[in-house]
Amino acid sequence: MESQLDEIRRSFDQELGQAREPGDIEKLRIRYLGRKGRLTSVLRLMGKLDPGERPRIGKISNELKAYMESRLRALGAELTEGKEISARLDVTLPGRACRRGSIHLINQVLGEIEDLFMDLGFSVVNGPEVEDDYHNFEALNIPPYHPARDMQATFYFSEKTLLRTHTSPVQIRIMESSDLPIRVIAPGKVYRSDSDVSHTPMFHQVEGLWVEEGINFSHLKGVLEAFVHTIFGPDVPLRFRPSYFPFTEPSAEVDIGCFICGGKGCRVCGNTGWLEILGCGMVDPAVYDYVGIRDESVTGFAFGLGVERVAMLKYAVDDIRLFFDNDLRFLTQFS
Ligand code: PHE
Repeated sequence: MESQLDEIRRSFDQELGQAREPGDIEKLRIRYLGRKGRLTSVLRLMGKLDPGERPRIGKISNELKAYMESRLRALGAELTEGKEISARLDVTLPGRACRRGSIHLINQVLGEIEDLFMDLGFSVVNGPEVEDDYHNFEALNIPPYHPARDMQATFYFSEKTLLRTHTSPVQIRIMESSDLPIRVIAPGKVYRSDSDVSHTPMFHQVEGLWVEEGINFSHLKGVLEAFVHTIFGPDVPLRFRPSYFPFTEPSAEVDIGCFICGGKGCRVCGNTGWLEILGCGMVDPAVYDYVGIRDESVTGFAFGLGVERVAMLKYAVDDIRLFFDNDLRFLTQFS
């Protein structure tokens, strides 16, 4: 009888190995454990056994029964689950493409500008976007009554605290805290209450400042010419046009030849043939008084350029608000 039980176990294992779906499991259960099943039939013969043998054979058959039940349960669960997964998952479907992000055009242009000035020996510094009136206006030679404050529609937190309207306050902070010579650019966000096709309440500027004994206007011209020719191409013409800023003297604005009409005059350049790209000048001596630079042989220049403006001219974008709408149809053109 013991060998019969052994034989049942072997053939059960073999048949179980061939089961492929939940229905096979049920058939096996009936064939081995059902009322007319193979194990059940053998157990019926127990009564004919020698009473001394019964406990031992009883134990073996109970173990075999438990073994078969647990194997059937386990494989049954496995097959049912597999069936559910394959019903849900069609592995022949093409995969879903994963979208890759890219660097925003403004940050690309900013990176290009930083690289170019670093090649010219400038280091990159930063200043706070929440500024005080002193650094944003007063120390830049813009006193409270000065009409230049009206040029910049300022967002105020309180009478003395505001969102910086330009990156020029970083000039003051660097001159207050650094030893000479100073040769830095300060890129960052600036804020003005203004909104139309060429203005957004937040935009980016890059400030430049070079202060050292013997620096003069020709250094300023050389650096800005290198900037224009690197960013816009070696054949783009530029001109320095006299202008006014309270913190530079003399002051100038730099224009580049209009890329639309090639200088003949059109709607974009207002028929002048030129497009303004930045403000600049020699640091006004009044500013040196505020930051405590007393050596009269020390001179320097500063400039401030708008990054969105550079990007618009370089890539012929006609509405600054496109940079901030986050429309992928626009942004992916530059990825
Ligand atoms: N801060 C000026 C502006 O925002 C630009 C500027 C910077 C002009 C440095 C001269 C020197 O308009």
